[in-house]
Amino acid sequence: MKLVTNARLAGRDGLHDIEIDGDRFGRVAPAAEPGGGPAADVLVDAAGGLVSPPFVEPHVHLDTTLTAGEPRWNASGSLWEGIAVWSERKATLTRDDVIARATEVLRWYAANGVLHVRSHVDVTDPGLVALDAMLEVRERVKDVIGLQLVAFPQEGVCSFDDGAELLEEAARRGVDAVGAIPHFEDTREDGVRSLEIAFDVAQRYGLLLDAHCDEIDDEQSRFVEVLATLARRGGLQGRATASHTTAMGSYNGAYSYKLQRILARSGVNLVCNPLANLCLQGRFDAHPKRRGLTQVKEMLAAGVNVAFGHDDVMDPWFPLGTASPLQVALVGIAAAQLTGAAEIDEAFAMVTDRAARVLGLGDGYGIAPGRPANLVVLPASSPYDAVRRQTRPSHVIARGRVVAETPPAVTRLTWPGRAPEDVDFVRARDRDPGRS
Ligand code: FE2
Repeated sequence: MKLVTNARLAGRDGLHDIEIDGDRFGRVAPAAEPGGGPAADVLVDAAGGLVSPPFVEPHVHLDTTLTAGEPRWNASGSLWEGIAVWSERKATLTRDDVIARATEVLRWYAANGVLHVRSHVDVTDPGLVALDAMLEVRERVKDVIGLQLVAFPQEGVCSFDDGAELLEEAARRGVDAVGAIPHFEDTREDGVRSLEIAFDVAQRYGLLLDAHCDEIDDEQSRFVEVLATLARRGGLQGRATASHTTAMGSYNGAYSYKLQRILARSGVNLVCNPLANLCLQGRFDAHPKRRGLTQVKEMLAAGVNVAFGHDDVMDPWFPLGTASPLQVALVGIAAAQLTGAAEIDEAFAMVTDRAARVLGLGDGYGIAPGRPANLVVLPASSPYDAVRRQTRPSHVIARGRVVAETPPAVTRLTWPGRAPEDVDFVRARDRDPGRS
């Protein structure tokens, strides 16, 4: 039995010790007095830092990652040119190329404390090169990261030759979820049909569903109502997700109100990708330029589960990124105006608990006896503090093992009239050892 000691847990007073028995959590109990308890095998002393279940990435494209500028830069910055650039790069894909890039970014995720990742994989490729490579990656990383794969028809289901057959073949080869891209299909009818096909495949193979849905600044793009209704009628409540949903940023008030009810009843999850979509959307607007994002605040208030995703890490759609969920949360707070104290806590949940709901992790997630021993230690006093100071975890524990350690970054400042001293961006009040 090992211990993570002196852990600050959200929603609980005081510090706690967390038992780890093999790859599972044991009991969680108030921290022992110094020298008062039995000699324990301390795995990590959290030293009063915030201990959280690991971060969860609900939406990334690992097959396209680390390709920005290949074979050319996305000069316009639009989603559509990004798809065209990727189509050129896709022609040169090899299995080793995909495995190397995806693995590198998964290493970044682990270093940042992300131990569950859902990656979309483009299956509009007759050779399914990326899919086979990513199935191999999922197996190789399973001792550290739980990787879910979504069959993503980047160039359409009905509008791409053999699109439906490729989607079904991906299901046969072992993906976790089925995708769609209805707003990209040639006609409205094809968009609806593509969702029907995706749901049919998901149900026949017992898979989750996660569609790129309404990622366009067109207020007439309303496929999320179709997805939600198919989910509810097909008994896939809680198992279906609509990702991006940026057209929602252009819907009028009356339709938005109607949609809130449809989504709440359906139990579908929404994933907002603020980094990528703040860059991709509004490209065809003169000023004022729309934000082009999911109605995060409104949908949360309506009882819909919403999570934040990274979407792209250095690819034709977003050229930056370090696979940091706290960076996504910070930008999401600014983009969706989640500046209330409770809303900032909610943004932290959108890259932890809420994202875990998107992946359907259930009892496979969270710090409780019997659950997989996955956690992060953040040198922070609260979720608010972690988001504000963008603290990388000091320790990441996966299946009971420490897989990442980050020493604190120290900046020494020489200030007029004062001796050189460290600056940690913490208010004096937050250093009070007496505060809970
Ligand atoms: Fe995406």
